[in-house]
Amino acid sequence: MFRLQIPKNLSKAELYRFLEEQARALIAGELDFIANAANLCSLLWHCLPDINWVGIYRLKPEGLVLGPFQGKPACTRIPPGKGVCGTCALRNESVLVPDVRKFPGHIACDPASRSELVVPLRVCEDLVIGVLDLDSPVENRFDVVDQEAMEALSRLLTGPVSNLLKGDL
Ligand code: SME
Repeated sequence: MFRLQIPKNLSKAELYRFLEEQARALIAGELDFIANAANLCSLLWHCLPDINWVGIYRLKPEGLVLGPFQGKPACTRIPPGKGVCGTCALRNESVLVPDVRKFPGHIACDPASRSELVVPLRVCEDLVIGVLDLDSPVENRFDVVDQEAMEALSRLLTGPVSNLLKGDL
């Protein structure tokens, strides 16, 4: 059984070290992407302060499709290149939005959202298979430290898929 006990009064760096350890433990030995994505979203939801949505969109030929998430129900499909998520997937780079009201084309799934961070999920170094999306009701909630931590967690999440595709397992 996996027991999540979140230490109190961690600095941001300590919290992200803790999260990486926990994510490694959750993902170890499990190859199923959806199962690992669901657990990663739950981990982030329970550990990160000031978050009102965290989830995965998977990239398909017709656009992004909702995957595992925590938070209120969200839009199921995002057309290619649309919104913050579509922009992230199209550019294959993280998108940090301090104020969603100033991002042209932002898709408001929850009107409470004020800032957003979306990072690409890549396999085999550079191939985008989806995005990890975090929303906050607090303006300017995310910075480059959050971005780098989410990018590291995304690499952990897609690691088993990359290994499978490369024939390493
Ligand atoms: N705000 C996102 C849409 C997804 S929700 O935030 C869950 C966007 O603009 O792509």
